Amino acid sequence: MSLAAAIDGPDRLDAGAFKHAMRHLAGAVSVITTGAGDERTGFTATSVSSLSADSPSLIVSLNRSSSSWPVLRRTGRFAVNILAEDQQEIAEAFAGRGGLKGADRYNGAQWISFSSGSLGVAGALVALDCVLEDAIERHSHSILIGAVREVVLTAEAQPLLYWHGAYRRISNLTGED
Ligand SMILES: Cc1cc2nc3c(=O)[nH]c(=O)nc-3n(C[C@H](O)[C@H](O)[C@H](O)COP(=O)(O)O)c2cc1C
Repeated sequence: MSLAAAIDGPDRLDAGAFKHAMRHLAGAVSVITTGAGDERTGFTATSVSSLSADSPSLIVSLNRSSSSWPVLRRTGRFAVNILAEDQQEIAEAFAGRGGLKGADRYNGAQWISFSSGSLGVAGALVALDCVLEDAIERHSHSILIGAVREVVLTAEAQPLLYWHGAYRRISNLTGED
C-alpha cells in the first residue's frame, strides 16, 4: 500500500475527533494581510509558528478554499500581525464575520506601512512583513513559508488568545464560550 493510501485508509481518525482534540491547543491570534488596493484581503490565523532564526522565517497554514489563497500566491507577499488583547474586532473581521470580504475587512482598524509598501495592523504586538518563500500544498491547506523581511513592534500589550472555541485574554482566561 502506498503511504498516501495508508494515511487515508481505515485507521484514519475521524475529522470531528481531531477538531475536538485541537480545541485544547491554546493559540495566539494573528491576522495575515496580503494584497494591495482594492485587491487587499487577509484572514485570521492561529496556525502561525516560528520556523527558524537563521534565516528568519515562519510558517502559517492556509486553507486553499480561502479567498486569501489566490491573492497571496499571486503577490508572493504577506504580513503576520500578532494581535493585542483589545483587537478581537479585527480578528472577527478577518475571520469573515457577517460575510465581510476582501478590502472591507480592513475598515475600522489603523494601518502601518512597511518599507515594501505592504500594510500591517497598527497596535498589534508585532507585525512581520514576509516574502512567500514556499507554499507546500498538503491535504486541504498550503503550508506557507515566509521569509521575514521587516519587523515592526507597534505595541507593548498582552496578547489575544484563542482556546476552546473562544477568544481569551491572559487576564481573563475563562473567556466566554
Ligand atoms: C481563531 C481563528 C483562527 C483561524 N485560523 C486559521 C488558520 O490558521 N488558517 C486558515 O486557513 N484559516 C483560519 N481561520 C479561518 C479564517 O480566518 C477565515 O475564516 C477563512 O479564511 C475565511 O475564508 P474567506 O476569506 O474565503 O472568507 C481561523 C479562524 C478563526 C476565527
